[in-house]
Amino acid sequence: LKTKRSSKTGTKTRGTSGLLRVAVCGCGGRGRDHVLSLLALPEVDVVALADSDHAACARLRDEELVPRGKPVSIFHTLEEQLRLARVDAVVLATPHQLHYGQARAALRAGVHVLVEKPMVTSTRQATALVDLARKQKRVLAIAHQGSCSSELRYIRRLLAEGKLGEITTVDGFISQDWLSRCRGTWRVSRELAGGGMLYDTGSHLLHAVLWLTGLKPVNVGAMVDNRGTEVDVVSSVLVRFDNGAMGTLLANGDARTFSSGLRIVGTRGTVVTGADGGRRAHSAVGRLLKYPPVKDHEMTVQSNFIEAVRGRSEAASPGEWGVKLCRLMDGIYTSAGTGKPAAVRWK
Ligand SMILES: NC(=O)c1ccc[n+]([C@@H]2O[C@H](COP(=O)([O-])OP(=O)(O)OC[C@H]3O[C@@H](n4cnc5c(N)ncnc54)[C@H](O)[C@@H]3O)[C@@H](O)[C@H]2O)c1
Repeated sequence: LKTKRSSKTGTKTRGTSGLLRVAVCGCGGRGRDHVLSLLALPEVDVVALADSDHAACARLRDEELVPRGKPVSIFHTLEEQLRLARVDAVVLATPHQLHYGQARAALRAGVHVLVEKPMVTSTRQATALVDLARKQKRVLAIAHQGSCSSELRYIRRLLAEGKLGEITTVDGFISQDWLSRCRGTWRVSRELAGGGMLYDTGSHLLHAVLWLTGLKPVNVGAMVDNRGTEVDVVSSVLVRFDNGAMGTLLANGDARTFSSGLRIVGTRGTVVTGADGGRRAHSAVGRLLKYPPVKDHEMTVQSNFIEAVRGRSEAASPGEWGVKLCRLMDGIYTSAGTGKPAAVRWK
């Protein structure tokens, strides 16, 4: 392979231009979002698309890339894409249960990976991917936009600096017309999705709780209603965290509209936000504080991933957060299955 060293970090690229050759695998709704965001990045050359549905792949190429003078190669499988397209990095936007095999194949080929949420739906697979990425010295990042939002990064700093004191409760909800949109698709197949609303849209909320607070859930009590499908649709979860804080989390996949909220209460104040940032409030003991404008530069999951590949920044949501999400989800499903509280296993 021809390689060219990037000026700052020593990262080698497989093209001659110094641009990162990036491929997208999965050309559905989210794959299109990734392509559009990647096209806006000056250091990126989108060189290949792959999808088992050839028409979806060709449509994305013809609608978004050809008009911009980028007639990219298209493939049926990730394996072909990796073998023939000389890529530096791949973005995986495929059904959940494919993420493990595809991320593993890409990492083994020495390719950096940005994988959609949830990274995988098994703790064993999540741990294996993190170990492989470390061994291969490649970036493994999860496309959680919450971790890139300026609001959530601001709140995370507030909490880390102890501005809210000790966290005592966390309550969050996320609702969506998920079931009516997903009926008849891979999302309601346990085999293809590995879970339902909780692992899908709900993972934004669960990730935000873990990532913002840094707390470890130690016990959970969960009730899950599948609404007659193979997967969870409406779930209610009680949580006790390792510092003694309590939490309640609701995921309603049988709603009419999208909405989400997250409130973190500490001994010195409270923050309110959405699962991916947005609407915020911050009150300190006795008075409501106005948020200062959040000054961080804006970043997207794609720009953050490229920064991480170049070695200029950490991935906002590296693979380790996929392991934590799976550990929490294991506890939730165990509790829902037995009808009893369950321990969340951290080892
Ligand atoms: N971060 C977010 O806000 C967000 C939003 C939507 C979806 N997602 C995630 O993105 C991923 C994809 O979701 P989506 O909504 O785009 O689904 P989708 O059904 O619209 O697209 C999935 C695509 O994968 C293709 N595919 C299936 N099997 C394949 C294979 N073996 N190889 C290559 N391609 C294959 C399908 O043909 C389809 O085009 C999921 O992980 C989902 O949770 C994230």
